[in-house]
Amino acid sequence: MARVTRLGGVEQTRTLTPRTAVIWAVLAAELDRRAGERLTVLDVGGGTGGFAVPLAEAGHQVTVVDASPDALAALTRRAAEAGVADRVRAVQGDGDALGGLVEPAAVDLVLCHSVLEVVDDPAPVVAALAAALRPGGAASVLVAGRAAAVLGRAMNGHLDTAAALAADPAGAAGPRDTLRRRYDADGATALLTAAGLTVEEIHGVRVLADLLPAAVADGQPAALVELERALAARPPYRDLAAQLHLFARRPA
Ligand SMILES: C[S@@+](CC[C@H](N)C(=O)[O-])C[C@H]1O[C@@H](n2cnc3c(N)ncnc32)[C@H](O)[C@@H]1O
Repeated sequence: MARVTRLGGVEQTRTLTPRTAVIWAVLAAELDRRAGERLTVLDVGGGTGGFAVPLAEAGHQVTVVDASPDALAALTRRAAEAGVADRVRAVQGDGDALGGLVEPAAVDLVLCHSVLEVVDDPAPVVAALAAALRPGGAASVLVAGRAAAVLGRAMNGHLDTAAALAADPAGAAGPRDTLRRRYDADGATALLTAAGLTVEEIHGVRVLADLLPAAVADGQPAALVELERALAARPPYRDLAAQLHLFARRPA
């Protein structure tokens, strides 16, 4: 479902999905607030550039730090195809070693999406991304939701795994789990607050999308995106989402 959307006054045609619509809405509000500025953006664990490339297309200067050379190669190709190679820098490195990779207090917007649940220790990563932000700069952080993982496993008949996940302090389901941890809104807020960031907004991403039969999700994509957006900020729906998106700021 391609739609014309605006990022800080720049029109783009983009496909909004339950995975991306709520996050883009939050980012668009920040970019609108700073319309006319060329922002310095850092995407930690930015992978193949699903967010980095559209941000560069909107005129911003984006550095992607990622541990995977393959992901960075795909990012570089994607940026070249979009004609924004000069505004996207790919840096191979570890999120918790950002200090040596990017200048401190030099970034307007940091993205850290789907990374804190896989790194060895999330606290130094969050401290590093907070240190990279200028005072007044913003962080967009996406983490795996804990409640959705418990419900999802139970609904698929894996009651033992659901029970293990619910009981585990980190919200992981043993050594075969692909994620090391999952979050609820309070836990994720505490992590960002401990690094000196002020959490301004929390949204649920994919409140419903993973629960619906494919025929419904595929058959009514626009209605699903609208419903996801309507429920995203409203507990208890928010707290049952597959992912939680936190928008935070380094105090000015
Ligand atoms: C699930 S992907 C998310 C990609 C992108 N942020 C997105 O939301 O589409 C996780 C990314 O984090 C990267 N990654 C994992 N651990 C990392 C670390 N310690 N430092 C930097 N990047 C890391 C992986 O290589 C991968 O590209």
